[in-house]
Amino acid sequence: MTGADDWFPVRITAKVRDGGDVFLFDLADPAGAPLPAFQPGAHIDVAVDGTGLTRQYSLYSAPADIRRYGIAVQREAEGRGGSRTLCDTVAAGDTLRIRRPRALFTLAAGATTHIMIAGGIGITPLLSMASHLAGDGGVTLHYLVRRRDRAALLDATRQAVGPENLHLHVTAETGRPDLARLIGPPAPGRHLYLCGPATLLDAATATAQGLGWPESHVHLERFATDAGANAGANRPFLLRLRSTGAVIPVMADQTAAEALAGANVELPISCAEGVCGACITGVLDGTPEHRDCVLTEAEHKANRLFTPCCSRAVSEMLVVDL
Ligand code: FES
Repeated sequence: MTGADDWFPVRITAKVRDGGDVFLFDLADPAGAPLPAFQPGAHIDVAVDGTGLTRQYSLYSAPADIRRYGIAVQREAEGRGGSRTLCDTVAAGDTLRIRRPRALFTLAAGATTHIMIAGGIGITPLLSMASHLAGDGGVTLHYLVRRRDRAALLDATRQAVGPENLHLHVTAETGRPDLARLIGPPAPGRHLYLCGPATLLDAATATAQGLGWPESHVHLERFATDAGANAGANRPFLLRLRSTGAVIPVMADQTAAEALAGANVELPISCAEGVCGACITGVLDGTPEHRDCVLTEAEHKANRLFTPCCSRAVSEMLVVDL
């Protein structure tokens, strides 16, 4: 769990444009000290000053080099403004506030073969993983981009995995590749890592399932959730706090986190869309309606945890561990 004191400043030591609308930022300690170590696949929260937004970015740099963190920010013209501010107004020499890296998307222990599929900017955590595995072999990375000139971090990826292990798929030229051929059959020690847009991840996980892959061998990180997609179908429900027994109504037009904040129960909220895991809360009774993509499928089925920033309830009441 993170807290307010996890934040610390970093200086932007370089900002370059790469792959169309993607900007690469190098971040370093302002005094030149090493940064906190991180696991391959980890991400950081970045406070986008002036917007009130916190955004999550995977570290693409090699975990072995903690003199710097590398993040890649795709400028989203239609987004809520976080990426636009970073891409348009923040410059090398500026200071950003970030949180210590957290690892929700990690390499599997005991894996001997790593099949990686990245869609667009989803290359970032996979590049960090591939850099970490460099020399160990067993990595095949499929990088799907719409256009050839949109492939960010291509040279770094080629260097990390070796040219023979990198397969660039330009979908505007060849269409989406046959995912079953890319993924192949399951085998002991064979793990699949996916990062990219929801459509690609949904198709790839369904393909892996159809090929008989065990869920425990498929690892994925999504960019964003469909948290708002069901907003029209929101039903009110009740939250009961374990600590005090207080019952807090959650109206149809508010999130559980907002209702809790209104009752002076503050949670660590970061992404506010079920991606980062900052707000994960224990459930003692009742059935959540899970709308996040940070808990695993097994955790969704167990119904012992939920994300109040975006998830709701199927039952009339949830008793939460607060
Ligand atoms: S705040 Fe990120 S999952 Fe809830």
